[in-house]
Amino acid sequence: MNNVYFPALWLVIAALVVGIIAILAAISYFSQTIGKDPVGRSQFHRQMVLLQQMRWVLSLLAVAMTVVGLAAWYRDTSKTSQKQAEIRDQLLPQYDRSKIWEAPDPYLAKTDEHASLIAYGRDLVARTQDYFGEKGLVRPGSINNMNCQNCHLDAGSKPYGNNYFAVYSTYPQMRARSGSLETIPKRVNDCFERSLNGQALDTTSREMRAIVAYMQWLGAGVPKGEKPKGSGLAEVPFLDRPADPANGQEIYVAKCASCHGANGQGLPMAADSPRNYPPLWGDKSYNQAAGLFRMSRFAAYVKANMPFGASYQSPQLSDEEAWDVAAFVNSQPRPAHPFLKSDWPKIEKKPYDHPFGPYADPFPEEQHKYGPYGPIVAFYKKD
Ligand code: HEC
Ligand code: HEC
Repeated sequence: MNNVYFPALWLVIAALVVGIIAILAAISYFSQTIGKDPVGRSQFHRQMVLLQQMRWVLSLLAVAMTVVGLAAWYRDTSKTSQKQAEIRDQLLPQYDRSKIWEAPDPYLAKTDEHASLIAYGRDLVARTQDYFGEKGLVRPGSINNMNCQNCHLDAGSKPYGNNYFAVYSTYPQMRARSGSLETIPKRVNDCFERSLNGQALDTTSREMRAIVAYMQWLGAGVPKGEKPKGSGLAEVPFLDRPADPANGQEIYVAKCASCHGANGQGLPMAADSPRNYPPLWGDKSYNQAAGLFRMSRFAAYVKANMPFGASYQSPQLSDEEAWDVAAFVNSQPRPAHPFLKSDWPKIEKKPYDHPFGPYADPFPEEQHKYGPYGPIVAFYKKD
């Protein structure tokens, strides 16, 4: 049965039921009027009996038609929702290890049972300032001048744009930085405390549940334990020299300062936009415990994403430029490392580009900061 047929059928049934009710009302009015008059009553006795019987038949008919109408409506809607579910399943991306993962269409999220939570989570990621910034709606003044999206592009859905594709499939996971099993809320709070240089969220808050629901949605269909192609960041090959901050400064002036400001503090966007080009260093930027403070994370992020508009398919920086501009930006002042004492409880697990000793290797902090990293990685491979 098609979709036009059913509404037409209900209309006919409804019209008939209304008609029957009208006839019933007329009969009842007629018999009441006649019933008041004893002469009329005896004169129309046979007709009255007939009308009474008709009333029964018509009432039964009205009930039967209502039941049929309701049943048809129920069948129709359950068929439609079944069809919608099938279409939805076809539209959701299918996991294929050899293909770059695509985030599901945000419009489809509206058909998810957690639609409002997912939408809120996406908004919190894209416009974090509106909720936690200086005039934030939820907890004003509790973070720096950044949005999650500044570093997790397209609200964490851009291939190699530091996206969240592998979050739901790979957490909880053991992480060497904390030396413990980390859940998604713990990992999200890491970014609140480091990248946003602010306060952690209550893990049971609606905001945290929304962010987790959104990440689950982005990775819906990724099998547990799998890291889809295109997730996170694309590694940039090592240089066999130290990265050069002086060269990086020249690149910065030529290719970055127009948006991030000559002084790295970011710039307002259009005059009427509430958003800014984000700061790259200084008080309002990420602190020294943040992922981007590691040279390899910064180089990988900018190589596939900056200047804004670049992508992994069309990068605009060479590998050397990416490392050198990372060296320049990450040698500028920024908030100190608040977790220096507790991070990396096992020092042999420190990543090669963690620029704070002590180390379980003989290389100086300088080399851990700027490279060359090849010898450090080789040292640990030997064991
Ligand atoms: C200053 C940049 C920056 C900001 C702002 C930022 N993050 Fe991150 N985030 C990173 C980097 C860098 C990583 C680590 C990537 C890696 O190690 O490959 C990361 C990792 C993560 C991960 C783990 C991803 C994975 O696959 O393991 C989650 C979850 C996350 N961030 C959530 C958030 C949320 C939520 C916000 C906002 C409240 C936020 N981040 C803000 C830079 C940032
Ligand atoms: C055309 C403007 C533009 C240019 C040029 C540009 N950026 Fe960005 N950059 C942005 C925008 C916009 C964002 C935030 C993206 C978002 O929120 O969606 C960003 C974010 C960043 C971030 C992460 C957030 C932060 O503030 O730490 C880094 C790091 C970064 N850019 C580095 C660079 C570097 C290095 C260059 C030069 C090679 C550069 N950008 C050139 C516009 C630009």
